[in-house]
Amino acid sequence: MIGVLVSGEGSNLQALLDEGLPIAAVASNRADARALARAQAAGVATAVFALENYVSRVERDTAMAEWLASRGAHWIVLAGYMHLLRPDFLDRFPGRVINVHPALLPQFPGTHAIEDALAAGVRQTGATVHYVDEGIDSGPVIMQVPVPIEEGDTVETLRARIQAAEHELLPQVVRQLCEP
Ligand code: GRF
Repeated sequence: MIGVLVSGEGSNLQALLDEGLPIAAVASNRADARALARAQAAGVATAVFALENYVSRVERDTAMAEWLASRGAHWIVLAGYMHLLRPDFLDRFPGRVINVHPALLPQFPGTHAIEDALAAGVRQTGATVHYVDEGIDSGPVIMQVPVPIEEGDTVETLRARIQAAEHELLPQVVRQLCEP
């Protein structure tokens, strides 16, 4: 069973739901994440773990890990989750936390990967699914797909093509990992 962490729109979560993958629970650091409504519409349990409701990030991450584990989550997928995770969280699911990132890592880590790829003038970027460690998009790569950068691309047009690639890549990797 899979636990998914989200912070925003949730289009990658939707791709996992549409593939019928076994999602046990969806947790967010933001109560206003549209992803939560997508989970609820699919009948999946949701919970919000906002930092301001905990005395520390360690406490928040521990509570979130406990809740996910109590719902039966074995694998954890970060699908647009915008906080770094503490070792306390990662140690609860050793080697079983993955993330989807909108670039060909190790190129363009961080929160502005699409803007950075455009600014660098490279001919192609892409999408990566990788294991999560304590760094910023620094864990080992599992699978990548290239996306060409076209003449006249803007952040919006490029993001749309990268996200289309993510929506193919992420369910494929998750299926391989949790249904070997
Ligand atoms: C994705 O592009 C992913 O690569 C990045 O955050 C975005 C989340 O989009 N980490 P969504 O919430 O899944 O629509």
